[in-house]
Amino acid sequence: MDKAMLDLARQAMAKAHAPYSGFHVGAVVRGANGRLYAGCNVENAAYPEGWCAETTAIAAMVMDGETRIVEVAVMGRGEGLVTPCGGCRQRIREFAVGDVPIHICAPEGLRRTLTLGELLPLSFGPEHLV
Ligand code: THU
Repeated sequence: MDKAMLDLARQAMAKAHAPYSGFHVGAVVRGANGRLYAGCNVENAAYPEGWCAETTAIAAMVMDGETRIVEVAVMGRGEGLVTPCGGCRQRIREFAVGDVPIHICAPEGLRRTLTLGELLPLSFGPEHLV
């Protein structure tokens, strides 16, 4: 993961709207076009209506006309690795194949890199519908 991706994840995390959990998350996806798209989690007073940082980043990418993800970074604080939630693994899967790297980061830097296939094995994707 390059510095631009890490810096952008840090900036995205700082924008999190997380007044209820206090858990700030930043996410960055790199499109096949080489561009980086950032997102933060956006919580809501009606709790289930909030959404994850990865979801925001994916929406920004799609709005830019890109539909292939080649790299992902997720950043959060705490002891445990902040890996994408189950729903976000599937949302990433819509636009990515199994060998796409997912960098799990803390504000200090990279903690671990996993592939989408490791996080979501035997996944269901768009190819199943053709
Ligand atoms: N969250 C994310 O944004 N991404 C993840 O990968 C894990 C969880 C958010 C959702 C919620 O706003 C907060 O973290 C606590 O669950």
